Amino acid sequence: MITKTSGSSSTANPSRSWNGYPVELDLVAKLAVVVGGGAVALRRTRALVEAGALVTVIAPDVTSELAALPVTLRRRRYRDGDLAGAWLVHAATDDPAVNAAVAAEADRERIWCVRADDGAASAARTPAVTRHGDITVAVTAGGDPRRSQLLRSAISHALADGSLPVRPHRRRPTPRDVAAGRGRVGTVALVGGGPGDPGLITVLGRRLLAEADVVVADRLGPSALLEELEPDVEIVLAGKAPGAHTMTQDQINALIVDRALAGCRVVRLKGGDPFVFGRGGEEALACVRAGVPFQVVPGVTSAVAVPAYAGIPVTHRGITQDFAVVSAHLDPSRPGAGVDWESLAKGPGTLVLLMAVAHLEAISTELIKRGRAATTPVAVSRC
Ligand SMILES: C[S@@+](CC[C@H](N)C(=O)[O-])C[C@H]1O[C@@H](n2cnc3c(N)ncnc32)[C@H](O)[C@@H]1O
Repeated sequence: MITKTSGSSSTANPSRSWNGYPVELDLVAKLAVVVGGGAVALRRTRALVEAGALVTVIAPDVTSELAALPVTLRRRRYRDGDLAGAWLVHAATDDPAVNAAVAAEADRERIWCVRADDGAASAARTPAVTRHGDITVAVTAGGDPRRSQLLRSAISHALADGSLPVRPHRRRPTPRDVAAGRGRVGTVALVGGGPGDPGLITVLGRRLLAEADVVVADRLGPSALLEELEPDVEIVLAGKAPGAHTMTQDQINALIVDRALAGCRVVRLKGGDPFVFGRGGEEALACVRAGVPFQVVPGVTSAVAVPAYAGIPVTHRGITQDFAVVSAHLDPSRPGAGVDWESLAKGPGTLVLLMAVAHLEAISTELIKRGRAATTPVAVSRC
């Protein structure tokens, strides 16, 4: 929020109440001066450099981080006249008299000045800022920086976890666009949703979900999050219950690619981790073949999370030093099951068998036959 009244009165009355005028400044290639060389000056200078300003820093002593920034450094005390040509100045010394002198020159020269030591006496104030992609949120709170920082942090978390709506508004591709593959290519995010609890998706995964135009969801992901999506988000339930696949893998691959080619942001929301028996690799390859940009967001795999929820550490010092994760959906007594039960019977301490419920008896028989102790403790979790 940038405010200034004309003449010298703007710094004269600290107790006046502001009705500040918020504005975003384009400082690219414009001179900004920072007076001061400590932590506050460093923060202000960084932000100005990021905004593309030409920054001059004036201070007899500066921190090494500040000295390393791409700025013009004057290692001396501030002198009247130092602000010539500046559009904005930060008075950020630890000496109120120097800050007041800087503010007085700025006021005289009609340059906006932010005083770090006295917001009320400042012609301009810097808000607490958070940025997420192309979104900038600037917060002021009655001149109370602590309050604005707290609010900024709360907004920042809500933006990061997707609980605030951040989806850019743009025309959704029509079915005709989809059929014709028109417009800008969208993106695919293969998001690991964790084992089902909505609290176990990553912050990045949740944000991408909130930004998606199309969500293609697995049965064992955090389905509760689908209810939070905006009404115009296309939600496709892709299955897959044992023996009842709503869509084949080829159909899923084709769907995510087609929607992305039509310009949509597609989230493929998967249970657990996309690359742990999740066929995420096949979906990634489908994107590569179609020239669709994609990213993989790892997830909390059920292979570790489900035992953890049941109070079973997959490793435990002095008891088990290693563990193996096995897809056990095929009967081990039949040829071609593709799992080396011999090594698993003798090998890793903990075995985590996914998709194993249908063949539990055959699996335990096989393991005991090949050397696993019949007294080995076992837990079964069904989903
Ligand atoms: C096709 S695999 C996918 C695994 C997933 N990519 C992961 O990393 O957790 C599906 C199997 O994972 C296990 N599974 C996934 N979520 C589960 C949950 N919430 N509780 C118990 N088992 C689960 C079950 O064995 C299920 O049949």
